[in-house]
Amino acid sequence: MCGIIGYIGPEEPVSLVLEALSRLEYRGYDSAGVAYFDREAKVDVVRASGKLSNLAALCQGRAGLPGPAIGHIRWATHGAPTEENAHPHRSGPIVVVHNGIIENDRELRKSLSSEGFSFSSETDTEVVAHLVHRHYRTTGSLPEAVRLALREIAGSYALAVLCEERPGELVGVRRGAPLLLGEGENAYFLASDVPAFLKWTRKMMPLPPDVIAAIGPDGLALLPVDGSPPLVPLFEEVPWDPVAAEKGHYRHFMEKEIFEGPRAIMDTLEGRIAPGHGRVMLSELARLGPSPPELVFVACGTSYHAALLGRQFIESLSDIPVRVEIASEFRYRPLRIRKGAWVVGITQSGETADTLGALDHARREGYLTLAVTNVPGSSITREASATLLTRAGPEIGVASTKAFVAQITAVWLLALHLARRTALREEEGSKKALEILLKSPARLEGFLGALDLGTIDGLAEKVAASRFVIFIGRGLDYPLAIEGALKLKEITYRPADGYPGGELKHGPIALIEPGVLVVAPLVDPDLSAKEWSNIREVEARGGTVLTIASPETAPVLPAYPLPATEGWEGVFFATAILQLLSYRTAVLMGNDVDQPRNLAKSVTVE
Ligand code: G6P
Repeated sequence: MCGIIGYIGPEEPVSLVLEALSRLEYRGYDSAGVAYFDREAKVDVVRASGKLSNLAALCQGRAGLPGPAIGHIRWATHGAPTEENAHPHRSGPIVVVHNGIIENDRELRKSLSSEGFSFSSETDTEVVAHLVHRHYRTTGSLPEAVRLALREIAGSYALAVLCEERPGELVGVRRGAPLLLGEGENAYFLASDVPAFLKWTRKMMPLPPDVIAAIGPDGLALLPVDGSPPLVPLFEEVPWDPVAAEKGHYRHFMEKEIFEGPRAIMDTLEGRIAPGHGRVMLSELARLGPSPPELVFVACGTSYHAALLGRQFIESLSDIPVRVEIASEFRYRPLRIRKGAWVVGITQSGETADTLGALDHARREGYLTLAVTNVPGSSITREASATLLTRAGPEIGVASTKAFVAQITAVWLLALHLARRTALREEEGSKKALEILLKSPARLEGFLGALDLGTIDGLAEKVAASRFVIFIGRGLDYPLAIEGALKLKEITYRPADGYPGGELKHGPIALIEPGVLVVAPLVDPDLSAKEWSNIREVEARGGTVLTIASPETAPVLPAYPLPATEGWEGVFFATAILQLLSYRTAVLMGNDVDQPRNLAKSVTVE
């Protein structure tokens, strides 16, 4: 949801900013812009509506002086995605890029207009540029002008600011939106996410809220907005490989990331099984104490679907009752959960505003909170009582794939961790579940290596030719069904919905007619027979059903046959097929797979 970059260092800034923005394009693609010092040491601002390629075309032949530069990629909130509304925004010598929402934009516009500032865009960001300008006029100091401007602003922001009269300075600050600092060779970066600067440095520190990062000739100073003493910068090494943020020989990031599923499972398991004991050890959870009397998952989108699987895993291995809540709904309801319950936020990005809000709601009421996230140093890791990192590596495709696989692994591990600690533990069941999980990376790798892409393409043609696609599933297959439907909507724009198989006859079955397709993953060993009854009901009404099933769950040859599976492992296989089915359908339709319309990977607004 908007991405920002700031750079100060020896490299040519225009090409560096464009390259860094290309790593953030998953955050928005309504417009893009860059500001840099040109050969005459004047700030040149170049902006273009639409995708980054439009900006890159405008920047052909432009090169700047080494020095500060800022860039932005926009997901529109205030104002249409036009060039006028594209960032950077300028007021006198001050140039600003912003991610977030200024809530008192209207009042500030009014007062700034009455002071003679004129507005050239509909964005809330322009008020920030004018405010900093106003304070710069009186103080002559860029960090101080930003500090004073922040006093007047309500809302969320990550800002990078430069000043034409200060060619050696760059300022960044954040509250409620992410901003990371990167430290390179004689260089500093400000960015919404790590992949933006991973090519140049792995040294990163999340900027704490309300602390101004003032970079100048003397280096970096971290100045708290409230005037307390400067903080000491503490950089850490990000465990991400720079090539993980490259497409390699794949056509799309999404395709590459589907094939990285086995690695995501393996890395998420790494170091979490006690050697020789065959037991799960989540030392990260030590701070939460013994197992809770209740566990509540809060999440959005794909992460919500991982939470639904988590409920089934945990409830089948322990006696802990589990609830799963849509974060945006949970956060505004009174908390009616047991004392001592854990509230667990699952979020790939660690920045989703609704999930952060839900966790904050629980934290304020004294509940212990756990973050399950893929991004080290993300906002949720700083706000939760404990963090369990998934280790899928950077996920660039907007539609989540390998991160979902890593989330399934994490909730599976969580179930095993909690099983070990409850009276009801069924030793044998847990042992088997762990054995199967440990074999999963290799099994999934083998499965992906022997894929029948011809069959998947045949199914994709059927999906592309249908008007509406209904995904059904029971038990473990229900979260897979709704995730399958979400993936299809996200990248093919085909109307699709997911239902519990048993619910079909209570309404959705009325939709069955020629042109409507039903997709049914069948990997729940306990409920697949029941699901077949639902499939028969559809077929009896002339509907076409595509099944994804293994020999033990399929009485007839399925549309996509899975190998024989054990326990819950089929979840990984069916997920891969559902992801590939959406992917191949979107490619067939000629869609922009990695940057589907209207979406943003990281949703930092409510
Ligand atoms: C956005 C993305 C989805 C994602 C959801 C939750 O809507 O488009 O793909 O599942 O946010 O994101 P999170 O980072 O919290 O997992």
